[in-house]
Parts: sequence; C-alpha cells; structure tokens
Amino acid sequence: MVKKQSTEHPPVQSERRSFLNTIWMVLGAVALGEAAWLITSFLKPRKRKIHQGDFGGAITAGPVSSFTNNTVTAFPRGRFYLSRLDDGGFLAVSRQCTHLGCTIPWEEKEKLFICPCHASAFDIFGNAVKSPASRALDIFKVYIENQTVYVDTGQMIKRSEFRKEQAVYSTAPGSKA
Ligand code: FES
Repeated sequence: MVKKQSTEHPPVQSERRSFLNTIWMVLGAVALGEAAWLITSFLKPRKRKIHQGDFGGAITAGPVSSFTNNTVTAFPRGRFYLSRLDDGGFLAVSRQCTHLGCTIPWEEKEKLFICPCHASAFDIFGNAVKSPASRALDIFKVYIENQTVYVDTGQMIKRSEFRKEQAVYSTAPGSKA
C-alpha cells in the first residue's frame, strides 16, 4: 500500500514563510524609499551656504559715523568698496571693472579706481572717466538701520552712470550724520 504524501505544509513552515515574506516587503519598501530620496536629493538644486560677511549675502559695513565724507573703504570679502560721498551719501561700488572684469584697486592719491589691466579709471561715484571702460561700475543695494550701514551683495545693479537717487543717506542729503 502506497502512503499518500500530504501537499500541505506543516503550520510552522507556513508561518516562517509568511514571516520571511513580510521581511522582504519591509526591506523592499526601505530600498524604494532610499532610492526615491537619492533621486530627489540628486535633482534638487543645491544652495550655496553664505556665511555672514561673505559675498552673496548681507554685509554689515559698520556705523554711519565710522565713514568720513569723501572716502572709499574696501570690503574684500564682500567684493565691493563703500564710497561715502561729499554730501554724506553712501554707494556700494563693485570692484569688478566694467571693461573685462579685472579687480580694480582704489588709488587714494588720484582719488580714482584705476584698473591694472587696461587703465580704465572710475571716480568715487564709479563713473567711467577714462576708457576703454564705457560705463559706470556696478553697485549693490545699501540700506541703513539704526545708524548702521548694510550692503546686500546678493544682487548686482548694472548702470550706465551715477544718478543722485543711487546714493543712500542716513539723514537728509548734505547734513552730517
Ligand atoms: S579690464 Fe579694466 S580696463 Fe580692461
């Protein structure tokens, strides 16, 4: 007599199979989640971290009273010069020459920005006074809060020449701060 073999699995084996299936499903879900996270973080544009005082963010230039009229102060990390005009107004002038982009120093003796590359010159307002550069130096937004001067280097403002409304004042133009 041939004994018929049962096709049913014993309950313990069946439980083990179900447990393993659950584990596989959980591992599959985790792997899918990780893949989705990797893809989205790869496609997401990265934001450059801007540290306080660095180019690209707001920079505290200092108290209004620390800048004398008719002077230029360099802010190398911010890549600009802060011009304090004769009437007390402030202008944050880019240090990049508008001819071909060389970095220009302020020459105190001549009271001019003179480009070392092709000798263009710019006055304290950033106006081009000697070619080959044909337009004024770019500027950054200046704002004054609680008698402190701030410069937002996040946005460069292009211009052809200086206009009075570009200067920022802590008090009425002409009065001493
Ligand atoms: S880059 Fe300044 S004059 Fe040419």
